[in-house]
Amino acid sequence: MSQSVIRPGSTIGVLGGGQLGRMMALAGSNLGYRFIALDPTPESPCGQVAGQIVAGYSDQTAARELAERSDVITYEFENVDAEVAALLEELSYVPQGSRLLYTTQHRLREKRAVEKAGATVAPYAEIGSEADLREAVSRLGIPCVLKTAMGGYDGKGQWVIRSESEIGPAYAELSKAGVELVLEQFISFVKEISVIAARSPRGEIKTFPVAENIHVDNILHVSIVPARVNEKVQQEAERLAANIAESMEAVGLLAVEMFLTEDGEIYVNELAPRPHNSGHYTMEACATSQFEQHVRAVCNLPLGPTKLRTPVVMVNVLGEHTEDVEGIVVNSTETGFNVIPKVHLYGKKGSAPKRKMGHINLLCDDVEDGLNWIQQTNIWRNQN
Ligand SMILES: Nc1ncnc2c1ncn2[C@@H]1O[C@H](COP(=O)(O)OP(=O)(O)O)[C@@H](O)[C@H]1O
Ligand SMILES: [Mg+2]
Repeated sequence: MSQSVIRPGSTIGVLGGGQLGRMMALAGSNLGYRFIALDPTPESPCGQVAGQIVAGYSDQTAARELAERSDVITYEFENVDAEVAALLEELSYVPQGSRLLYTTQHRLREKRAVEKAGATVAPYAEIGSEADLREAVSRLGIPCVLKTAMGGYDGKGQWVIRSESEIGPAYAELSKAGVELVLEQFISFVKEISVIAARSPRGEIKTFPVAENIHVDNILHVSIVPARVNEKVQQEAERLAANIAESMEAVGLLAVEMFLTEDGEIYVNELAPRPHNSGHYTMEACATSQFEQHVRAVCNLPLGPTKLRTPVVMVNVLGEHTEDVEGIVVNSTETGFNVIPKVHLYGKKGSAPKRKMGHINLLCDDVEDGLNWIQQTNIWRNQN
């Protein structure tokens, strides 16, 4: 079963109906696949372009229905309920398997898997008590970052400890979540970069070009490709991502976030076993998009070429930017810069500050033109 090809015309079930599922369904539809999403929000971003079962992610009856109606199942977020994951594996075909989820749902398990693949992570310690934390802070040094082992995203579930007086409050705050904690040494990186790897059940692996990522308020603001790093770093980053995908026997996409230090060292920060925000640039800029590649991988089709066709800057559109960006779509795309802006909006109903509503891929001859375009629109004020 694990080697079989899921042919076009088959139905792909997606756990989660957000923008990642939507873009997956749009890309996979071009290959002739049908999609059905399971999501509690009626007319979710994915449900608008595919079928949808409206139910909670841990609803086992709904999970059974999804399994019955799908030839293959994937997910667009990693915090899938373990029981539901097991049920889906039993009732349907989930080529990514539940082990990849189990590993990437938990920062400690994830770090061990990264180390096993021969890559380096920031020195870390498992924290079970405030006493553990005090000991670990004195060993790893200040600043350091306390994180919940599970459930964090966009900087939530983290505390950067900058003085000894913050140890008590940090522990009190994060231990409220009732999950294990991990303390990491603070890596003073010069750049954050990421690589998305794809692996299929037949064992084929391909990586996308390195993205240089800039976060604002812990949320991805822009991805710049080609990343402004030397050739050696690019090759090493792609090699590490491929090694991790291979070592974990991942199926589908595996996004690898990394820190690059001044002396050229690469630390792996975290993994995501799904399409990733820092891979949205691939939609127009690569020969194959990350979404098509994910569909190809889970269906065991040959993987597509990942070559970069043009320099690109991807900028995220958050709730506070939506109105201005809609103005660009409705009015004009002429900017005086040598840039082609490709706008993607996710069809989310409620706009709220910091909520990811869309993104723009700025196709350009030089990434500086894309960055200048962002500046001159004045939409992303006070952001670099
Ligand atoms: N050990 C660290 N050293 C320095 N910066 C860090 C460290 N861990 C996290 N960060 C910063 O916080 C951001 C969010 O952390 P991350 O572990 O990626 O969590 P999330 O799940 O929220 O993306 C990172 O992109 C990076 O900018
Ligand atoms: Mg992250």
